[in-house]
Amino acid sequence: MLKHVLVLVFVFVAAGVFGPPPVKAQTAAPAQAAAPPFNPGFADLMNTLVQPRHAKLGLSAREQNWALARYAAHELKDSLAKIARWRPRFREQSVPDMMEATTGEPIKAIEAAIEARDVGKFNAAYTRLTEGCNSCHAALNHEFIVIKEPDRSLFGNQDFRPAK
Ligand code: HEC
Repeated sequence: MLKHVLVLVFVFVAAGVFGPPPVKAQTAAPAQAAAPPFNPGFADLMNTLVQPRHAKLGLSAREQNWALARYAAHELKDSLAKIARWRPRFREQSVPDMMEATTGEPIKAIEAAIEARDVGKFNAAYTRLTEGCNSCHAALNHEFIVIKEPDRSLFGNQDFRPAK
């Protein structure tokens, strides 16, 4: 009988029944590493916000879609202003000042041309805007980034003609 009990105790001990509670391999899930802040570079902002909106502005005005052109001009102006706030310096230069000096006047003229639905004035102001993009690139040592008026739409999924 005693032998049986001893065997049973031995089995329980071997099975860890009387032993200390097993140490949990992981006491707590490792804290989730915080995602790094969203921090796009200057070129990322130009490429994603400014370049497509410059094109959309030209494409909508070409269709004399003034409602869409007004919207595109607003979005472009807003993107440039946000970049100037998010990235106020580039190579020791003031980005807000550069934005204003190179695109301020053409954007105002574009807005006036859109309100007047004046194709000739729009085209002249849009040419000055595009020159403004390039003069800022040149002033900041990126003269190899040359913007031009879009020759065709790259946006196969957007209709630039006025909505019926
Ligand atoms: C404040 C000056 C400034 C103005 C105004 C400006 N840009 Fe730029 N842009 C830059 C700088 C600086 C870079 C290069 C940034 C870098 O490489 O870090 C750049 C880069 C770019 C690029 C290259 C991005 C890429 O990844 O290929 C495009 C496209 C561009 N700009 C479009 C435009 C257009 C279109 C306009 C006018 C509506 C414009 N930019 C107006 C300063 C300017």
